[in-house]
Amino acid sequence: MRILIVGAGAREHALAWKCASSEHVAEVNVAPGNAGPAMEARVRNADVAAMDIPALVTLARAERIDLTIIGPEAPLVAGIVDAFAAAGLKCFGPRAAAAQLEGSKTFCKEFLQRHRIPTAKHASFTRATFDARYVMEHRTPIVVKASGLAAGKGVIIAATAHEALAAADAMFGGEFGAAGCEIVIEEFLPGEELSFIVMADGQHALALASSQDHKRRDEGDRGPNTGGMGAYSPAPFVTPALHARIMREVIEPSLQGLAAQGMPYTGFLYAGLMIAPDGTPNVVEFNCRLGDPEAQPLLMRLQSDLAVLCAAALAGRLHEVAVKWDPRIALGVVMAAAGYPGSVRSGDAIDGLDAAALLPGKVFHGGTRMDADQGRVVTSGGRVLCAVGMGASVRAAQSEAYGLVNAIRWKGAQYRRDIGHLAVARENAAAQ
Ligand code: AMP
Ligand code: GLY
Repeated sequence: MRILIVGAGAREHALAWKCASSEHVAEVNVAPGNAGPAMEARVRNADVAAMDIPALVTLARAERIDLTIIGPEAPLVAGIVDAFAAAGLKCFGPRAAAAQLEGSKTFCKEFLQRHRIPTAKHASFTRATFDARYVMEHRTPIVVKASGLAAGKGVIIAATAHEALAAADAMFGGEFGAAGCEIVIEEFLPGEELSFIVMADGQHALALASSQDHKRRDEGDRGPNTGGMGAYSPAPFVTPALHARIMREVIEPSLQGLAAQGMPYTGFLYAGLMIAPDGTPNVVEFNCRLGDPEAQPLLMRLQSDLAVLCAAALAGRLHEVAVKWDPRIALGVVMAAAGYPGSVRSGDAIDGLDAAALLPGKVFHGGTRMDADQGRVVTSGGRVLCAVGMGASVRAAQSEAYGLVNAIRWKGAQYRRDIGHLAVARENAAAQ
């Protein structure tokens, strides 16, 4: 098989690396990729942007691509799978209609409500329909979200009504561009967050291993929301009973509901869940793709052939396949550029990548590029690298990941030193 991966982040580096390890795969192209995939055997980058859908169709034809896997949400929401299907090309991901689950929080909330899938109570507003009384009449903390795509940053957990009104005002004022023309205000859900990702073939779901990420920038899970500062798999508190409950109450009704609405879902489906103290799996959001950084530890643990799984999904045969995991824990630490999640400087030379390559674990590249003049890898984005370690315990996986992080330096690099802290605390408690 010849594979094309669309996207430029560490998730896409991990997808390319994983596909290239398959005996069925001759070559992997990544569009546009970064300095990471360019250094992998049997992988090369194509200089085509992830949103340039016509050019991606042309590339897939010219390279005789058998299977395309889409990394990020934006091309999915923009209809890349529809365009590939129209050109007779196989592409693993949802069509635009189904990708609205991520593309519009209002669409998602209405869908969840209609199908009685557990989620926070909410109301949607535009500036014209906004009613401050809704905020005043509900308990704080209260959550204010831009309805459209905002790279995980368009969510404000307001401690007071005053803060919620200010957040709504800022969103209507264009803080998140067009994504904030419509906003969702919803109740705050207590509990523990879980990333539950499945592969879907329109009808059947194949659950991937559980994972958890750290969305806040700062240690102790404080500071602004980001795309994710680190993640690990599995999430230690997911029992077989909770897994079964999530499949029954969230995943199966979602796939059935979408199929019944004439938009069957094929692709990775990521349920961002808040597991309530009573075990209810509340849906915080759906993403129409793999998580980043969750994909990096997940793909390190995946022992099955990803290209074969995607091909099975595109043939509607996911119920006939099984998925195998390395039983060890994998943990990824994101190294970000100074300023992230705000605007960042790029072009800083990264030191220590060669030394890290000799250590156990794996460094996936996100915002990096090869600087031809300097002949070295420089920063080129917010989340620059994701260092993944593995181990028989969370502590051991953490120690391998930070071994990689400690080998790497650039000016202004920032990362959290406590990725996996909840899982480590659980592990310590269980050992006592
Ligand atoms: P979202 O972009 O909707 O996933 O929200 C980003 C993050 O904000 C989530 O991963 C949660 O950590 C937090 N969050 C969003 N909605 C809620 C909610 N209703 N209650 C508590 N936390 C929330
Ligand atoms: N890590 C969260 C996301 O990919 O949206």
